[in-house]
Amino acid sequence: MKKIISVVGARPNYMKIAPLHRALKQHEETIQHLICHTGQHYDYEMYEAFFQDLELPSPDFFLGIGSGTHGEQTGKILIEFEKVCIETKPDIVLVVGDVNSTIAATLAATKLGIKTGHIEAGLRSFDRSMPEEINRILTDSICDFLFVTEKSGVDNLTHEGHSPEKIFFVGNTMIDSLMYALPKINSTKLFESLKLDFQPYNYALMTLHRPSNVDNPQQLSEIIGIMEYIGNNLGLPLLFPIHPRTLKNVKSFNLFERISSIRNLYLSAPMNYLNFLSMMKTSKFVLTDSGGIQEETTFLRIPCITMRTSTERPITCEIGTNILVPPSKDKVISAINSILYNPKNTSEIPPLWDGKASERIAQILVEKCLTILA
Ligand code: UD1
Repeated sequence: MKKIISVVGARPNYMKIAPLHRALKQHEETIQHLICHTGQHYDYEMYEAFFQDLELPSPDFFLGIGSGTHGEQTGKILIEFEKVCIETKPDIVLVVGDVNSTIAATLAATKLGIKTGHIEAGLRSFDRSMPEEINRILTDSICDFLFVTEKSGVDNLTHEGHSPEKIFFVGNTMIDSLMYALPKINSTKLFESLKLDFQPYNYALMTLHRPSNVDNPQQLSEIIGIMEYIGNNLGLPLLFPIHPRTLKNVKSFNLFERISSIRNLYLSAPMNYLNFLSMMKTSKFVLTDSGGIQEETTFLRIPCITMRTSTERPITCEIGTNILVPPSKDKVISAINSILYNPKNTSEIPPLWDGKASERIAQILVEKCLTILA
Protein backbone atom coordinates (compact mmCIF):
# COMPACT_ATOMS: atom_id res chain seq x y z
CA MET A 1 0.00 0.00 0.00
CA LYS A 2 1.38 3.40 -1.03
CA LYS A 3 0.57 6.60 0.80
CA ILE A 4 -0.19 9.95 -0.83
CA ILE A 5 -0.78 13.17 1.13
CA SER A 6 -2.49 16.04 -0.69
CA VAL A 7 -2.00 19.46 0.83
CA VAL A 8 -4.62 22.22 0.74
CA GLY A 9 -4.47 25.58 2.45
CA ALA A 10 -6.66 28.21 0.89
CA ARG A 11 -10.09 28.44 -0.71
CA PRO A 12 -9.03 27.92 -4.35
CA ASN A 13 -7.26 24.65 -3.46
CA TYR A 14 -10.22 22.60 -2.29
CA MET A 15 -12.04 22.23 -5.61
CA LYS A 16 -8.81 21.07 -7.25
CA ILE A 17 -8.33 18.22 -4.74
CA ALA A 18 -11.93 17.04 -4.22
CA PRO A 19 -12.29 15.24 -7.57
CA LEU A 20 -8.83 13.72 -7.22
CA HIS A 21 -9.83 12.34 -3.83
CA ARG A 22 -12.81 10.64 -5.49
CA ALA A 23 -10.62 9.33 -8.33
CA LEU A 24 -8.00 7.95 -5.94
CA LYS A 25 -10.75 6.17 -3.98
CA GLN A 26 -11.10 3.94 -7.04
CA HIS A 27 -7.55 2.74 -6.35
CA GLU A 28 -7.88 2.28 -2.60
CA GLU A 29 -6.52 -1.25 -2.71
CA THR A 30 -3.13 0.21 -3.69
CA ILE A 31 -3.25 3.84 -2.53
CA GLN A 32 -4.15 5.43 0.76
CA HIS A 33 -5.01 9.09 0.11
CA LEU A 34 -4.71 11.49 3.05
CA ILE A 35 -5.54 15.20 3.13
CA CYS A 36 -3.61 17.84 5.06
CA HIS A 37 -5.18 21.29 5.55
CA THR A 38 -2.61 23.88 6.58
CA GLY A 39 -5.23 26.29 7.98
CA GLN A 40 -4.00 29.18 5.83
CA HIS A 41 -7.70 29.93 5.41
CA TYR A 42 -9.70 29.22 8.53
CA ASP A 43 -13.04 31.10 8.50
CA TYR A 44 -16.12 28.90 8.14
CA GLU A 45 -16.93 30.48 4.75
CA MET A 46 -13.36 30.08 3.48
CA TYR A 47 -12.94 26.47 4.57
CA GLU A 48 -15.65 24.26 6.10
CA ALA A 49 -18.50 25.42 3.86
CA PHE A 50 -16.36 24.40 0.88
CA PHE A 51 -15.40 21.00 2.28
CA GLN A 52 -19.13 20.27 2.76
CA ASP A 53 -20.15 21.38 -0.72
CA LEU A 54 -17.31 19.45 -2.31
CA GLU A 55 -18.09 16.31 -0.28
CA LEU A 56 -14.53 16.28 1.05
CA PRO A 57 -13.96 14.36 4.29
CA SER A 58 -12.50 16.27 7.24
CA PRO A 59 -8.76 16.59 6.71
CA ASP A 60 -6.55 13.89 8.23
CA PHE A 61 -4.15 16.61 9.41
CA PHE A 62 -5.01 20.23 10.27
CA LEU A 63 -2.01 22.47 10.90
CA GLY A 64 -3.91 25.56 12.12
CA ILE A 65 -1.37 28.01 10.69
CA GLY A 66 -3.67 31.04 10.22
CA SER A 67 -2.75 34.45 8.86
CA GLY A 68 0.57 36.24 8.98
CA THR A 69 3.21 37.79 6.78
CA HIS A 70 4.37 35.67 3.85
CA GLY A 71 7.50 34.67 5.73
CA GLU A 72 5.62 33.73 8.89
CA GLN A 73 2.92 31.80 7.07
CA THR A 74 5.30 29.94 4.77
CA GLY A 75 7.76 29.26 7.59
CA LYS A 76 5.13 27.89 9.98
CA ILE A 77 3.73 25.56 7.33
CA LEU A 78 7.24 24.36 6.49
CA ILE A 79 7.90 23.49 10.14
CA GLU A 80 4.53 21.85 10.82
CA PHE A 81 4.22 19.94 7.56
CA GLU A 82 7.73 18.55 7.95
CA LYS A 83 6.52 16.93 11.21
CA VAL A 84 3.56 15.37 9.38
CA CYS A 85 5.89 13.97 6.72
CA ILE A 86 8.33 12.55 9.28
CA GLU A 87 5.51 10.86 11.21
CA THR A 88 3.47 9.65 8.27
CA LYS A 89 6.20 8.84 5.72
CA PRO A 90 4.16 9.45 2.56
CA ASP A 91 5.40 8.09 -0.78
CA ILE A 92 4.17 11.15 -2.63
CA VAL A 93 3.06 14.62 -1.55
CA LEU A 94 0.68 16.40 -3.91
CA VAL A 95 0.28 20.17 -3.89
CA VAL A 96 -2.10 22.37 -5.86
CA GLY A 97 -2.19 25.89 -7.26
CA ASP A 98 0.05 28.72 -6.18
CA VAL A 99 -0.64 29.70 -2.58
CA ASN A 100 1.88 29.89 0.27
CA SER A 101 0.84 26.39 1.40
CA THR A 102 1.87 25.06 -2.04
CA ILE A 103 5.51 26.11 -1.88
CA ALA A 104 5.91 25.48 1.86
CA ALA A 105 4.65 21.88 1.68
CA THR A 106 6.70 21.15 -1.44
CA LEU A 107 9.86 22.40 0.22
CA ALA A 108 9.27 20.37 3.39
CA ALA A 109 8.62 17.15 1.46
CA THR A 110 11.40 17.55 -1.11
CA LYS A 111 14.06 18.13 1.54
CA LEU A 112 13.01 14.88 3.21
CA GLY A 113 13.50 13.07 -0.10
CA ILE A 114 9.77 12.54 -0.66
CA LYS A 115 8.52 12.68 -4.26
CA THR A 116 6.21 15.60 -4.98
CA GLY A 117 3.60 16.34 -7.63
CA HIS A 118 2.18 19.75 -8.54
CA ILE A 119 -1.36 20.01 -9.87
CA GLU A 120 -1.76 23.15 -12.02
CA ALA A 121 1.95 23.29 -12.85
CA GLY A 122 3.51 25.53 -15.48
CA LEU A 123 1.16 28.52 -15.30
CA ARG A 124 3.09 31.79 -15.52
CA SER A 125 1.92 35.41 -15.37
CA PHE A 126 5.53 36.59 -15.88
CA ASP A 127 4.81 39.16 -13.16
CA ARG A 128 7.18 38.52 -10.28
CA SER A 129 5.52 41.16 -8.10
CA MET A 130 2.69 38.64 -7.57
CA PRO A 131 3.41 36.38 -4.59
CA GLU A 132 1.67 33.55 -6.46
CA GLU A 133 4.13 33.77 -9.36
CA ILE A 134 7.07 33.22 -7.01
CA ASN A 135 5.22 30.27 -5.45
CA ARG A 136 4.57 28.76 -8.91
CA ILE A 137 8.14 29.08 -10.18
CA LEU A 138 9.70 27.70 -7.01
CA THR A 139 7.23 24.84 -6.65
CA ASP A 140 7.68 23.67 -10.24
CA SER A 141 11.43 23.93 -10.02
CA ILE A 142 11.62 21.26 -7.28
CA CYS A 143 8.58 19.05 -7.99
CA ASP A 144 9.03 15.60 -9.52
CA PHE A 145 5.69 15.32 -11.35
CA LEU A 146 4.11 18.29 -13.09
CA PHE A 147 0.39 18.05 -13.93
CA VAL A 148 -0.64 20.74 -16.39
CA THR A 149 -4.05 22.30 -17.16
CA GLU A 150 -3.40 24.13 -20.44
CA LYS A 151 -0.92 24.07 -23.31
CA SER A 152 0.91 27.24 -22.18
CA GLY A 153 1.93 25.33 -19.05
CA VAL A 154 3.69 22.67 -21.11
CA ASP A 155 5.46 25.37 -23.14
CA ASN A 156 6.58 27.28 -20.04
CA LEU A 157 7.91 24.19 -18.29
CA THR A 158 9.72 23.02 -21.42
CA HIS A 159 11.22 26.47 -21.85
CA GLU A 160 12.43 26.36 -18.23
CA GLY A 161 14.25 23.12 -19.00
CA HIS A 162 11.99 20.53 -17.33
CA SER A 163 12.27 17.13 -18.92
CA PRO A 164 9.22 15.97 -20.89
CA GLU A 165 8.95 12.79 -18.76
CA LYS A 166 8.00 14.93 -15.76
CA ILE A 167 5.29 16.90 -17.57
CA PHE A 168 1.75 15.51 -17.88
CA PHE A 169 -0.88 17.54 -19.76
CA VAL A 170 -3.98 16.22 -17.99
CA GLY A 171 -6.60 18.99 -18.07
CA ASN A 172 -8.18 20.91 -15.25
CA THR A 173 -9.30 19.31 -11.98
CA MET A 174 -11.20 22.50 -11.07
CA ILE A 175 -13.38 21.91 -14.11
CA ASP A 176 -13.91 18.32 -12.88
CA SER A 177 -15.36 19.82 -9.69
CA LEU A 178 -17.47 22.29 -11.62
CA MET A 179 -18.96 19.58 -13.85
CA TYR A 180 -19.65 17.40 -10.81
CA ALA A 181 -21.39 20.31 -9.06
CA LEU A 182 -23.54 21.61 -11.93
CA PRO A 183 -26.39 19.09 -11.56
CA LYS A 184 -26.66 20.01 -7.86
CA ILE A 185 -27.29 23.68 -8.58
CA ASN A 186 -30.79 25.13 -8.43
CA SER A 187 -30.72 28.84 -9.24
CA THR A 188 -34.41 29.47 -8.72
CA LYS A 189 -34.31 28.03 -5.21
CA LEU A 190 -31.19 30.04 -4.41
CA PHE A 191 -32.72 33.33 -5.58
CA GLU A 192 -35.69 32.58 -3.30
CA SER A 193 -33.64 31.54 -0.28
CA LEU A 194 -31.28 34.53 -0.55
CA LYS A 195 -34.35 36.76 -1.12
CA LEU A 196 -32.66 38.43 -4.09
CA ASP A 197 -34.90 41.00 -5.73
CA PHE A 198 -33.11 40.97 -9.09
CA GLN A 199 -33.45 38.54 -11.96
CA PRO A 200 -31.19 35.76 -13.28
CA TYR A 201 -29.12 36.86 -16.32
CA ASN A 202 -29.60 40.51 -15.37
CA TYR A 203 -26.85 41.22 -12.86
CA ALA A 204 -23.09 41.42 -12.61
CA LEU A 205 -21.01 39.38 -10.17
CA MET A 206 -17.75 40.67 -8.72
CA THR A 207 -14.85 39.24 -6.68
CA LEU A 208 -11.75 41.11 -5.60
CA HIS A 209 -8.84 40.16 -3.37
CA ARG A 210 -5.44 40.60 -5.10
CA PRO A 211 -3.02 42.61 -2.97
CA SER A 212 -2.28 44.79 -6.05
CA ASN A 213 -5.98 45.78 -6.20
CA VAL A 214 -7.00 45.96 -2.56
CA ASP A 215 -3.94 46.84 -0.47
CA ASN A 216 -3.61 50.37 -1.84
CA PRO A 217 -6.34 52.98 -1.08
CA GLN A 218 -6.07 54.76 -4.48
CA GLN A 219 -6.38 51.52 -6.42
CA LEU A 220 -9.24 50.25 -4.29
CA SER A 221 -10.96 53.60 -4.75
CA GLU A 222 -10.53 53.30 -8.55
CA ILE A 223 -12.35 49.96 -8.45
CA ILE A 224 -15.11 51.39 -6.27
CA GLY A 225 -15.56 53.95 -9.07
CA ILE A 226 -16.27 51.02 -11.43
CA MET A 227 -18.81 49.60 -8.98
CA GLU A 228 -20.49 53.03 -8.83
CA TYR A 229 -20.74 53.06 -12.62
CA ILE A 230 -22.41 49.62 -12.67
CA GLY A 231 -24.81 50.23 -9.79
CA ASN A 232 -25.56 53.95 -10.08
CA ASN A 233 -25.12 54.75 -13.79
CA LEU A 234 -26.12 51.48 -15.48
CA GLY A 235 -28.62 50.59 -12.75
CA LEU A 236 -27.42 46.98 -13.06
CA PRO A 237 -27.56 44.88 -9.89
CA LEU A 238 -24.02 44.04 -8.72
CA LEU A 239 -23.51 41.09 -6.39
CA PHE A 240 -20.24 41.33 -4.46
CA PRO A 241 -19.32 38.54 -2.03
CA ILE A 242 -16.46 40.25 -0.29
CA HIS A 243 -13.17 38.50 0.61
CA PRO A 244 -11.98 39.03 4.23
CA ARG A 245 -8.81 40.78 3.07
CA THR A 246 -10.82 43.23 0.96
CA LEU A 247 -13.39 43.92 3.69
CA LYS A 248 -10.62 44.62 6.19
CA ASN A 249 -9.01 47.13 3.79
CA VAL A 250 -12.29 48.79 2.80
CA LYS A 251 -12.86 49.49 6.49
CA SER A 252 -9.34 50.60 7.33
CA PHE A 253 -9.19 52.96 4.32
CA ASN A 254 -12.55 54.50 5.40
CA LEU A 255 -14.23 53.42 2.17
CA PHE A 256 -17.07 51.43 3.70
CA GLU A 257 -19.56 54.31 3.71
CA ARG A 258 -18.84 55.04 0.05
CA ILE A 259 -19.44 51.41 -0.90
CA SER A 260 -22.60 51.23 1.20
CA SER A 261 -24.11 54.17 -0.65
CA ILE A 262 -23.84 52.51 -4.11
CA ARG A 263 -27.32 51.80 -5.48
CA ASN A 264 -28.10 48.24 -6.69
CA LEU A 265 -25.10 46.83 -4.83
CA TYR A 266 -25.61 43.55 -2.99
CA LEU A 267 -22.73 43.04 -0.61
CA SER A 268 -22.45 39.58 0.95
CA ALA A 269 -20.08 37.44 3.00
CA PRO A 270 -17.94 35.01 0.95
CA MET A 271 -20.35 32.50 -0.62
CA ASN A 272 -20.08 28.75 -0.44
CA TYR A 273 -19.02 26.86 -3.57
CA LEU A 274 -22.41 25.75 -4.89
CA ASN A 275 -24.09 29.12 -4.31
CA PHE A 276 -21.23 30.99 -5.93
CA LEU A 277 -21.21 28.71 -8.98
CA SER A 278 -24.93 29.14 -9.27
CA MET A 279 -24.67 32.94 -9.18
CA MET A 280 -21.83 32.81 -11.72
CA LYS A 281 -23.81 30.60 -14.09
CA THR A 282 -26.75 33.02 -14.34
CA SER A 283 -24.79 36.30 -14.32
CA LYS A 284 -24.59 38.71 -17.25
CA PHE A 285 -20.87 39.11 -16.74
CA VAL A 286 -18.23 38.63 -14.05
CA LEU A 287 -15.70 41.16 -12.85
CA THR A 288 -12.77 39.60 -11.02
CA ASP A 289 -9.08 39.47 -10.22
CA SER A 290 -9.15 35.77 -9.31
CA GLY A 291 -7.23 33.02 -11.06
CA GLY A 292 -9.76 30.21 -11.06
CA ILE A 293 -12.81 32.30 -11.93
CA GLN A 294 -11.21 33.09 -15.29
CA GLU A 295 -11.37 29.36 -16.01
CA GLU A 296 -14.82 28.69 -14.57
CA THR A 297 -16.41 31.52 -16.59
CA THR A 298 -14.71 30.25 -19.75
CA PHE A 299 -16.18 26.82 -19.15
CA LEU A 300 -19.64 28.29 -18.42
CA ARG A 301 -19.33 30.67 -21.41
CA ILE A 302 -20.01 33.70 -19.21
CA PRO A 303 -18.15 36.91 -20.19
CA CYS A 304 -15.40 37.72 -17.69
CA ILE A 305 -13.38 40.88 -17.20
CA THR A 306 -10.17 40.18 -15.31
CA MET A 307 -8.94 43.40 -13.71
CA ARG A 308 -5.23 42.67 -13.87
CA THR A 309 -2.29 43.47 -16.13
CA SER A 310 -1.33 39.83 -16.69
CA THR A 311 -2.82 36.37 -16.57
CA GLU A 312 -1.21 33.02 -15.96
CA ARG A 313 -4.15 31.41 -17.75
CA PRO A 314 -3.79 32.76 -21.33
CA ILE A 315 -6.02 30.10 -22.89
CA THR A 316 -9.05 31.77 -21.25
CA CYS A 317 -8.35 34.94 -23.27
CA GLU A 318 -7.25 33.19 -26.48
CA ILE A 319 -10.29 30.94 -26.91
CA GLY A 320 -12.45 31.50 -23.83
CA THR A 321 -14.62 34.35 -22.60
CA ASN A 322 -12.00 36.18 -20.57
CA ILE A 323 -10.82 39.72 -21.30
CA LEU A 324 -7.75 40.99 -19.50
CA VAL A 325 -8.15 44.68 -18.62
CA PRO A 326 -5.77 46.80 -16.53
CA PRO A 327 -7.68 47.82 -13.40
CA SER A 328 -8.33 51.46 -14.32
CA LYS A 329 -11.87 52.85 -14.24
CA ASP A 330 -11.99 54.03 -17.86
CA LYS A 331 -10.61 50.82 -19.35
CA VAL A 332 -12.86 48.54 -17.32
CA ILE A 333 -15.96 50.64 -18.06
CA SER A 334 -15.20 50.47 -21.76
CA ALA A 335 -14.85 46.65 -21.51
CA ILE A 336 -18.18 46.46 -19.65
CA ASN A 337 -19.85 48.52 -22.36
CA SER A 338 -18.52 46.30 -25.12
CA ILE A 339 -19.84 43.20 -23.32
CA LEU A 340 -23.26 44.84 -22.89
CA TYR A 341 -23.61 46.52 -26.27
CA ASN A 342 -21.31 44.60 -28.60
CA PRO A 343 -21.06 41.06 -27.22
CA LYS A 344 -18.72 38.44 -28.66
CA ASN A 345 -20.64 35.21 -29.15
CA THR A 346 -17.91 32.76 -29.97
CA SER A 347 -15.83 30.98 -27.43
CA GLU A 348 -14.43 27.51 -26.96
CA ILE A 349 -13.76 25.22 -24.03
CA PRO A 350 -10.03 24.45 -23.77
CA PRO A 351 -8.72 20.96 -24.62
CA LEU A 352 -9.07 18.32 -21.89
CA TRP A 353 -11.37 20.45 -19.74
CA ASP A 354 -13.77 17.53 -19.86
CA GLY A 355 -14.31 16.48 -16.25
CA LYS A 356 -11.77 13.66 -16.42
CA ALA A 357 -8.49 15.36 -15.42
CA SER A 358 -8.51 13.78 -11.95
CA GLU A 359 -9.01 10.30 -13.39
CA ARG A 360 -6.01 10.91 -15.66
CA ILE A 361 -3.88 12.07 -12.74
CA ALA A 362 -4.92 9.07 -10.63
CA GLN A 363 -4.04 6.72 -13.50
CA ILE A 364 -0.63 8.37 -13.99
CA LEU A 365 0.06 8.21 -10.26
CA VAL A 366 -0.74 4.49 -10.22
CA GLU A 367 1.01 3.54 -13.47
CA LYS A 368 4.04 5.83 -13.57
CA CYS A 369 4.78 7.71 -10.39
CA LEU A 370 4.28 4.88 -7.93
CA THR A 371 6.10 2.34 -10.09
CA ILE A 372 9.13 4.64 -10.05
CA LEU A 373 9.02 4.32 -6.27
CA ALA A 374 8.41 0.56 -6.17
C1 UD1 B 1 -4.65 33.64 -0.65
C2 UD1 B 1 -3.62 33.26 -1.72
C3 UD1 B 1 -4.14 33.68 -3.09
C4 UD1 B 1 -5.52 33.12 -3.33
C5 UD1 B 1 -6.44 33.57 -2.20
C6 UD1 B 1 -7.85 33.08 -2.36
C7 UD1 B 1 -1.24 33.29 -1.11
C8 UD1 B 1 0.02 34.04 -1.24
N1 UD1 B 1 -2.35 33.93 -1.50
O1 UD1 B 1 -4.73 35.05 -0.60
O2 UD1 B 1 -3.26 33.18 -4.08
O3 UD1 B 1 -6.00 33.58 -4.57
O4 UD1 B 1 -5.90 33.06 -0.97
O5 UD1 B 1 -8.67 33.55 -1.34
O6 UD1 B 1 -1.21 32.17 -0.66
N2 UD1 B 1 -8.49 36.00 6.32
C9 UD1 B 1 -9.60 35.78 7.10
N3 UD1 B 1 -10.14 34.54 7.10
C10 UD1 B 1 -9.61 33.50 6.40
C11 UD1 B 1 -8.46 33.72 5.62
C12 UD1 B 1 -7.92 34.98 5.58
O7 UD1 B 1 -10.11 36.67 7.74
O8 UD1 B 1 -10.17 32.40 6.46
C13 UD1 B 1 -7.92 37.36 6.26
C14 UD1 B 1 -6.75 37.52 7.17
O9 UD1 B 1 -6.89 38.71 7.82
C15 UD1 B 1 -5.55 37.54 6.26
C16 UD1 B 1 -6.12 38.04 4.94
O10 UD1 B 1 -7.50 37.64 4.95
O11 UD1 B 1 -4.53 38.35 6.73
C17 UD1 B 1 -5.42 37.47 3.76
O12 UD1 B 1 -5.39 36.04 3.80
P1 UD1 B 1 -4.15 35.24 3.17
O13 UD1 B 1 -4.38 33.79 3.29
O14 UD1 B 1 -2.88 35.79 3.69
O15 UD1 B 1 -4.16 35.63 1.66
P2 UD1 B 1 -5.36 35.80 0.64
O16 UD1 B 1 -5.43 37.24 0.33
O17 UD1 B 1 -6.61 35.12 1.07
